[in-house]
Amino acid sequence: MSNDPRFDLSGKVAVITGATRGIGRAIAFQLGRAGAAVVVSSRKPDAVAETVKALEAERITTRGFPANVGRLDEARALIAHATNELGGIDILVNNAAVSPLYGPLTSMTESAFDKIMSVNVKAPLELACRALPIMAARGGGSIVNMSSVDGLRPDHDLAVYSASKAALISLTKAMALEWGAQNVRANAICPGLIKTDFSAPMWKENAGVAAQLARQPLPRLGSPEDVSGLALFLASDAGSYCTGGVYVVDGGWMT
Ligand SMILES: NC(=O)c1ccc[n+]([C@@H]2O[C@H](COP(=O)([O-])OP(=O)(O)OC[C@H]3O[C@@H](n4cnc5c(N)ncnc54)[C@H](OP(=O)(O)O)[C@@H]3O)[C@@H](O)[C@H]2O)c1
Repeated sequence: MSNDPRFDLSGKVAVITGATRGIGRAIAFQLGRAGAAVVVSSRKPDAVAETVKALEAERITTRGFPANVGRLDEARALIAHATNELGGIDILVNNAAVSPLYGPLTSMTESAFDKIMSVNVKAPLELACRALPIMAARGGGSIVNMSSVDGLRPDHDLAVYSASKAALISLTKAMALEWGAQNVRANAICPGLIKTDFSAPMWKENAGVAAQLARQPLPRLGSPEDVSGLALFLASDAGSYCTGGVYVVDGGWMT
């Protein structure tokens, strides 16, 4: 619970994909501590069960649902499960993403391209479209799409991942345009280099990271908690005039 009622999510239901590690897990705790009931999802059932247990230890109302969101039937089942278990959805955090290939454009394979686009672009759109009528029936809602600074400026050896994150920014703006009249807001967060498993190849034994941090106004790696506060702002009434926004959390990297 927050002392400021604009940040209070009591009575709200939040669905978070990729909620068992890194940024998604930090968001699950952040929204849960603000009073939301939280639906935790990722591919691995054990990881989902462990995260549910950790949230429940803080007396956060939680449900777990293992799903690979790249498979649309599983994405749809996640929305149905949240609605059946908790009566609706107010907040959707599209956080899960993959980046299976690190290399130049010419090394991209069709299967890697399809996997990146399925998980990073198609799934967030499908989940948002399924959540829309449920949110609208409750008077509105908030969709937070986890993009990346790479969606604003492609990174070396991450071109297709970067393109998927650019597509997600564009979809976020389209959601804001089309769904504002139903009081459903959509915003994108663009993290810089955050210390998680996902980004380990960048910060573990990579000389380039020292050069990046030396150039960055705040010369340190970000933490998942550096991102989760912004997600709470966008999910809550504190962000009620924000839609179609694209927010960097990058220690100033893009400055
Ligand atoms: N870390 C960074 O520096 C950084 C920078 C910019 C943007 N981002 C973005 O932030 C988001 C979270 O990244 P992170 O660094 O927190 O990653 P992470 O620590 O590796 O966590 C990824 C989460 O997503 C789940 N996941 C992966 N593929 C999935 C799928 N197909 N379906 C459902 N769940 C899936 C993972 O659990 P399972 O393995 O159990 O599925 C895990 O819970 C991503 O959208 C990423 O692109 C991260």
